[in-house]
Amino acid sequence: MAKWWKNAIVYQIYPKSFKDSNGDGIGDLAGITEKLDYLHELGINVIWINPIYCSPMEDNGYDISDYYKVDPLFGSNEDMDRLLEEAGKRDIKVLLDLVVNHCSDEHPWFQKAKADPNCEEAGYFYFKTTDDGQRPNNWRSNFGGSVWSQLPDQRWYFHTFSPKQPDLNWENPKLRKKIYEMINWWLDKGIAGFRVDAITFIKKDLTFASRKAEDGYLYPIENLTDYPGIEVFLSELKEKTFDRHNCMTAAEAPGVGKETFRSYAGENGFFSMIFDFNWESMEGEADKSAIDAVERWKNRIFQSQKFTYQNGWSGVFLENHDQSRCVNKFLEEDCRNYFSTTALAVLYFYLYGTPFIYQGQEIGMTNLAWKTIDEMDDVRAKGMYQEAIEKGEDPSKVLKYFGELGRDNARTPMQWENSENAGFTTGTPWMKVNENYPAINAADQEQDPSSILSFYKKVTRLRRDPKYQDTFAEGNFSPLYEDVPALIAYTRAKDLQTVSVIVNFKKQSQAVPLTSGTCILNNYGSLTEKDGQMLLAPYQAVVFASVPLD
Ligand code: GLC
Ligand code: CA
Repeated sequence: MAKWWKNAIVYQIYPKSFKDSNGDGIGDLAGITEKLDYLHELGINVIWINPIYCSPMEDNGYDISDYYKVDPLFGSNEDMDRLLEEAGKRDIKVLLDLVVNHCSDEHPWFQKAKADPNCEEAGYFYFKTTDDGQRPNNWRSNFGGSVWSQLPDQRWYFHTFSPKQPDLNWENPKLRKKIYEMINWWLDKGIAGFRVDAITFIKKDLTFASRKAEDGYLYPIENLTDYPGIEVFLSELKEKTFDRHNCMTAAEAPGVGKETFRSYAGENGFFSMIFDFNWESMEGEADKSAIDAVERWKNRIFQSQKFTYQNGWSGVFLENHDQSRCVNKFLEEDCRNYFSTTALAVLYFYLYGTPFIYQGQEIGMTNLAWKTIDEMDDVRAKGMYQEAIEKGEDPSKVLKYFGELGRDNARTPMQWENSENAGFTTGTPWMKVNENYPAINAADQEQDPSSILSFYKKVTRLRRDPKYQDTFAEGNFSPLYEDVPALIAYTRAKDLQTVSVIVNFKKQSQAVPLTSGTCILNNYGSLTEKDGQMLLAPYQAVVFASVPLD
C-alpha cells in the first residue's frame, strides 16, 4: 500500500486552546472547522487533534470516560462528522489521539470494577491487595507520587500517570478486543489514523517487584517502558486494526532504543512512525547559542537521522503539547527574532521523516512568563510541585523548571488576532492568554508577506512541491560541511536530484563554500556570494536544488 503519510505535513491541534466557537472560553470542534481554510492556506494536509473524547479533563482529555463520544466541551459527534466532511473538501486528513494505556477512573469499566472485585471489568485493570496494607511496590508514577492508589476496600490499583488515569490490563484478551473494536469504529468513520499515546507503557513487569531506587523509596517508571512481551500486543493491535485500513499511525514511544526501533517504525513496523525525541530540547544547556551547545544538538540530530534513514521512519517536530515553545527551547533570549525562528523551521522541515507543526509555532508563539503555580493548569506540574513540598524541597525551583520547560507553555490559547483574548474566545479563556498577542498573532501575520507565518507557507509548499517531494520523502540523508561550527547543513539526494539545506545557526555571519544549483528558499532577501563562497548572515537559512526537474 502506498505510504501516503511520507508526504504528509501534520498540524497538531490542542483543541482546548485552538479556537472557541461558542464563547464558553474553551476551544471546540466547530472552532477547528472554522479555521480549516487557515490551515489549508498554511499548506498542511493532515491534522492531529489531541483527545476530544468524553473526559473529566484531569489531564485535558488523556483520561477518557467514553471512547465513542465527543466530550460536550468540544461539541458533539455530529460536529466531528462535519469537521471530517469539511476537512475532506480541503484534502485535509484527520488523525485522532489514541489513548489506550489507561482510561479515566470515571469510565464505566473502572466504576464497575471498583464496585465489584469479581466482575468482568475488574479484569480490565491491575488490582492488588497486600498483607501489610502497604503499597505493592516502590514504583513512581510519571506525574509524581506512587503508581498505586488505594480504593476504600483496600485494593490498590495501578496508574502510570495520575490516580485518575488507571492503567488498562492488556494481558486480558476481552479488554484488547474492546479496544480493537473501538479503533475500527473510528477508522470506519473516516479518520485517517491516530497519534498513539504513551504506547510503550502497555506491557508491565508482572512480577511488580520493587526496584533499586536512587532517592530511597521510589523508582521512575521511565525504566519500565518497552518491556519484553510488548511485541505480542503490538503485533496483534496492528493486525486487528491498522492493517485493515491504509491509515497513518504516529506513536509516542518513550524507551524505544536502537534495538527495537525497526519493530516499531521499520518497513513493516507496528506503526507508520514514531516521534523522534532524540533532539527535542537543549535541556541542560546553559547558553543555547554557545557554539558547543549547538554542535552537540546538531550531532544528536545527525546521529538520529542517519539511524532512521537506515531503519525506518519518524515524525520530526520542534514542539508539541508537552513541550515548551521552540523559540524558548532552542534560542537564547537575545537571539529570538524572525530570522532565527524561520531558521528553525528550515532546519527540521526537510529532514528524513514526516514534519509536524504544533499550533502557534507557525506564528512564533512563545512561552508565557508564569508568576505562580496557580496560573498553571498542568496536572504534571502540580503533582511535582506538591511532591517537592512534601519532600521539603524548594518549590520555587519546581516553578522555575516548569516555567521554562513546562507543558502549559504550549497550551495557552492560540493567538488569532490583535483583539481581546487574542481572538480566541469572546468569553473568559480557560487558560491565561499570553500578553504578547498584540505583537504575535495570526491575523497581522497573514497580511504581512515578511512574517513568520508567510515564511512557513513557503516552507510547507516546498516540502510538498511535486518537483522535490520524492527527494524529501526518500532521499538519502547526508551531513554537509559537518565540521563548520554552528552550521547545520545536510543534503537529501535521490536519483539525479540533490537538495541542500544550509542553516547558519550562529549569532554572527559565517562563510561557507558556495553550493551548486539554484537557491529555492531563503529566509533573507538576498544571499551574499564572493570568491566561491557564500557569506551567510546570522541565522540565515537557504535551500539549494541541484537539478530542478522541469
Ligand atoms: C502522553 C501525552 C501527555 C499525557 C500522557 C498521559 O505523554 O502526550 O500529554 O499527559 O501521555 O496520557
Ligand atoms: Ca467552546
